[in-house]
Amino acid sequence: MAKSRELLQTLAAVPLPMVMIAPDGRLIWANEGGLALFGRGLEGLHYTAILRQPGPAAAIEAALSGQGRREARYRHSTAGGERLYRVSAAPVPLPAGEGGEGGGAVLVSFEDVSPLEEALQMRQDFVANVSHELRSPLTAMLGFIETLRGPAREDAAARERFLGLMAEEAQRMDRLIADLLALARVEAEERRAPEGRVALDALIGEVVDRVSGMPAARNARLEFTTPDAPLHVAGDGDQLRQVFANVIENALKYGARPGQPAEVRITLARRSSPRGPEAVAEVADQGPGIAAHHIPRLTERFYRVDAHRAREMGGTGLGLAIVKHILNRHRGRLKIESAPGAGSRFQVILPLVERGEG
Ligand SMILES: Nc1ncnc2c1ncn2[C@@H]1O[C@H](COP(=O)(O)OP(=O)(O)OP(=O)(O)O)[C@@H](O)[C@H]1O
Ligand SMILES: [Mg+2]
Repeated sequence: MAKSRELLQTLAAVPLPMVMIAPDGRLIWANEGGLALFGRGLEGLHYTAILRQPGPAAAIEAALSGQGRREARYRHSTAGGERLYRVSAAPVPLPAGEGGEGGGAVLVSFEDVSPLEEALQMRQDFVANVSHELRSPLTAMLGFIETLRGPAREDAAARERFLGLMAEEAQRMDRLIADLLALARVEAEERRAPEGRVALDALIGEVVDRVSGMPAARNARLEFTTPDAPLHVAGDGDQLRQVFANVIENALKYGARPGQPAEVRITLARRSSPRGPEAVAEVADQGPGIAAHHIPRLTERFYRVDAHRAREMGGTGLGLAIVKHILNRHRGRLKIESAPGAGSRFQVILPLVERGEG
């Protein structure tokens, strides 16, 4: 008796949820995790009262009838969402004093495999998205080739036009692949702290100059207000340039009112926070803005508010996903404030390296 109580106390310290089932199928014990999963007052209930799904029920039945250890999957739904558990039902000696004659008990443990499941799902979604994004320009190109071989064969003007359109589709595929490679690179490097040191004011100034020369900036008003003193962060210059280039290009592409040139204001300032001094770079536009339910999803891969419009602007929806990974690596963050009709403000916040540090 004493021995089995000690054993159960030892099991109680294991962080996996566990329940023990007597030979007659009654629940005789659960640790904290088991109680948290199924609720208190389980003792004496038949296991089918809490584990109705056929997989786990069959595993327990088999383990109870002497067929050895069994595994199954168990989906557990709560108000907070659904979790997936790997269930193991293992025959164990019946603890003394638990009554029952003949046969052993079964210890059922639950391992939460939802994170693995989610990672797998994400990978599948990613492959599906990439294939879809590559297929649309390919389908368009195949269509043009068909037309060039057939109806437009002798039509010089049509040929010129179709070749132009094909070049655009090929460029779209090229951009997509460049973005995918950039994403793979920043993901691989995310856990390695950046080594360089960067003057953020100069870096943003450079990006603004470069972006001003792009077609998207034609007629646009792009204004950058530099801080009084240089602001230094620990960072990778190339990656931080990618961050600001994407956020500023987005403001130019999506931040214009219909029929009007975009007005983009960029500011950079230092501020103190409980985390220490920070640089806050804000890119603000006067565009149509973004509805609240889209905002938390903008940094998902391939997420676009208006996929059709974004595609017309040449967007693949990977830009802000890349930004997020780069900022994670730099211990920074992205804050997005926007409302329909009120323009958008994208803030890039990075920890500052002050004089004497770093
Ligand atoms: N300033 C903005 N105003 C309104 N919508 C925006 C703004 N910036 C981004 N968005 C929305 O967020 C989406 C995601 O932006 P993201 O930079 O990730 O992709 P993209 O610009 O479409 O493509 P890419 O950056 O890969 O060329 C955009 O498609 C657009 O719908
Ligand atoms: Mg973008």
